[in-house]
Parts: sequence; structure tokens; C-alpha cells
Amino acid sequence: MDQILAQIRASRERYQKELIDFLRIPSISTTPENAGDVRACAEHLRERCAEAGLDNCVIHETARHPIVTAEWRKAPGAPTVLVYGHYDVQPVDPLDLWDSPPFEPVIRGNKLVARGSADDKGQLYIHVKAVEAMLKEKGTLPVNLVFLFEGEEEIGSPNLEPFIREHKELLKADVALISDTAMFGENLPSICTSLKGLTYMELRLKGPNRDLHSGEFGGPVRNPANVICELMASLWDKEGRVAVEGFYDKVVELSAADREDIARLPFDEAAYKKDLEVDGLRPEKGYTTMEHLGSRPTIDVNGIWGGYQDEGAKTVLPSLAGAKFSFRLVAGQRHAEIRALVEKHLKDRIPAGIEAEFIEHHGGEPAMAPIDHPAVQCGAESMEKVFGRKPFFQREGGSIPIVGTFDTLLGIKTVLLGFSLPDCRIHSPNENMDLPNFHRGIETIAWFHQLLPRYLAR
Ligand code: BES
Ligand code: ZN
Repeated sequence: MDQILAQIRASRERYQKELIDFLRIPSISTTPENAGDVRACAEHLRERCAEAGLDNCVIHETARHPIVTAEWRKAPGAPTVLVYGHYDVQPVDPLDLWDSPPFEPVIRGNKLVARGSADDKGQLYIHVKAVEAMLKEKGTLPVNLVFLFEGEEEIGSPNLEPFIREHKELLKADVALISDTAMFGENLPSICTSLKGLTYMELRLKGPNRDLHSGEFGGPVRNPANVICELMASLWDKEGRVAVEGFYDKVVELSAADREDIARLPFDEAAYKKDLEVDGLRPEKGYTTMEHLGSRPTIDVNGIWGGYQDEGAKTVLPSLAGAKFSFRLVAGQRHAEIRALVEKHLKDRIPAGIEAEFIEHHGGEPAMAPIDHPAVQCGAESMEKVFGRKPFFQREGGSIPIVGTFDTLLGIKTVLLGFSLPDCRIHSPNENMDLPNFHRGIETIAWFHQLLPRYLAR
């Protein structure tokens, strides 16, 4: 390992330059005008995998954005690791809140600022470089590997599940490994042990056939903007609990032991509020902020519109209004069941004078990574080797729906070894990757591959 680590440390400059080139490609998956960029990004990644010494580096076409796979299977008898990452990124809006253009990466202090730097191109690249360093130094790996990189994670991975169904042999592995989560804090390594599921929906309302003068028509004519407010507000109660009938029926409650573990995390609520510049928080009644963030379901309106949005004021009764909203789900909940409950709840409340159209966006199941799984323990030792302290185990509120699919379709558990930080602003302006963590991530992943055979043989 000494030689491998020396090689990783000697290559830091080059790794950073390469990552910057990778981040320059605006691989936004949701906007059709970036489809060519997403493809270019896949091709770029395929080439980097081949340069790293991997075999069978292939671009697979899907109905939308390509999937990249690469393999190294020359260690007969050794375990096989399926490494997953996503090379697509979120949109950049609002652009005016960025201090530098999102696809012109810049280094400020320890941070590399660019869209995708943390979520997930920077973290995905950690895996390519760790394997490259091991192959360069030793010409061989202690494990077998298959890389699976998709370009549709941020749009709900619509084509990944069918791909997995059709490529079970290619993806055959003993365990999956993903770096797409955050550490608890700077110098506070952690391993993510659970991710939330998601049900994302949109509701479009139409009232009168045209925009109207709100004085001439307002009152008796239903205003779809008023109605969308009413409908959204009916989804939660005064305490912020979801108010949809049956919503909590199958939620797996935290055990006393779980709650003790969560209470041991070094969470500083005052610092958390200060960072966000909010003067109060409202965790679910009976739960702490950390419990709510990691282990209780939530509802968020992600966008709401209708009527006049420009400068000044306009007395209008709009014809159209709508909202995009989503529920984060926890163990026990199924996204399709929740979608059905929510649709029923809303349909029962659409008043006369309003036409409603429901649009289904993505869904995904919650997922767990059991602490006592030997590969998770291997991840913990790998982090400890590099960060100099034992990692915490942390439940996170984000979603990576494919983790549940690996479990059900491939029968494997996933180790979630993430290296971004809570303040790296994923999905927001000025997204950044902590560069010391990027380099430590490469070392940690090299350790993981090195140690895994021993853990899985136990
Ligand atoms: N990297 C995130 C998931 C994440 C964020 C995990 C924070 C843990 C902590 C991932 O790329 C993501 O944003 N996923 C989406 C999934 C959705 C579009 C299906 C999410 O969570 O909103
Ligand atoms: Zn994301």
C-alpha cells in the first residue's frame, strides 16, 4: 500500500487538472438542450476508464442518456465490487448567485467550485483514480471490479433499472460501493447507513379559460392560485406532519438503540442554524432535528407558480397555477403506495370550477446499508486509516434510488462511502468539493479494495 499511497500523493496536481476538465462538460441531464453535453461527458469518462487500465470500457445507449461500464476481472476467487456513480448534474439556476461560472471550475482555498464537483462527478472520479493508481503501481488489483456510471441519476434514473435487469451477468458482484453522500463534517468521517425514498409529483390547475380582472371576476370565480395554496397546505398539519391519510401507517419507528446512536452524533444545532441563517427549526414533534433529517418522512413544495411574478403589482385572477412537490420516504414506505394515497387525498379536495392534471415524476424506494455488513466495516477501517479516526454512522435525508434496486435485483448491499461536506452546496449555486477530501477519498477507496478480500473471507 505504501507505494500506492505515494503514487496517489505524487499525482495530486494531475488529478485536480483532470477533474477540472471533466467538470467543464455541462452534463445537465434534465434539460434537452444539454443532451449532447451529457453524451460528450460519457465519452470523456469512457476514455478516462480505458486510460486507467480497465477493460471493456463501453458506452451503452438507452432511451435517453448513455450508461458507461468498465471492468477488471482478473482476480479469480477474489470478491467483486460494483462501483456506481453518476456523471450527470443538476441545472445551475439561479445563475446570478454563482460567484464564478458553474462550468468554469476555479479553486478557492481548499475548494474546487463547479457544478458537479461534489455531486457526483468529483466523487465518481475518486474511484477512477484510486483504481488507476493501484493498477499503475501493481499491475493488478486485490478485487474484481465493475464500474457502472449513469447520466440520469438527477432525473430519477428512468433507464437504469431496465439496464440492470438486462445486464445481470455483467454487473454480477458481491457488494456495491458508492461515493455520492456527505461526511458528517470536516475531519468528521462518516458512513451513510440509510437513504430516504422519494415520491415526486406535479399538479397543474386550470380555472377560468383566460386570465381575468380580479375585481371584475374575483370571489365567485375560483382562483387556481388560491386553490393550489389550499391544496398544498392540506398536505401537512400545523406541526408539519404529513396530513395524508395512511401516510405513516407503515413507517418503521426508530428503536431506542437507534435514537441513542443518533444522539451520539456531534450535531451542533446552533452552528447549523447559523450556517443557514435561520433563527428557528421545526423538527417533527417528539423527534430531534437529526432524527427528523435522517429517519422521518417529509414533504416539500419544490416549486409553486401562478399569476403575476414580475416587478410591480397586477390585479389578476390567473387561469393557471401549479406546483411541484415531493415526499421523502423512510423504511417501510413504498413510493407507489404513497403516490396513490397522495393523489387520492388531493383529488378528493379539488373544488368545482377547477380542472386538475396530475403529473408523475420520479419515485424511488428508501434504502439501508447495515452497519454490521463486513463490507461496511471494511469501509469504516479504510476511512479510519486515512482520516485518523473512526467514522460515525449516519442516516441521510437524500435519495439514491438505485441502492434499493441493487438489493432487490442483484441481491447485494451497498457501502455508502461519501466524501463531500455538508456545506458543499450540492444542487445550489457555488457547489464545491473539498480538495483535501477528494485526495483522501482516493486513498480511502484504494484501502477499501485492498482490505475487502479479508473482510469478505471472514
Ligand atoms: N448525491 C445525492 C443524494 C444525497 C444527497 C445523498 C445528500 C445523501 C445526502 C443525489 O445525487 C441526489 O441528489 N439524488 C436525488 C434523487 C432524485 C432525483 C431521485 C435527490 O436526493 O433529490
Ligand atoms: Zn444530486
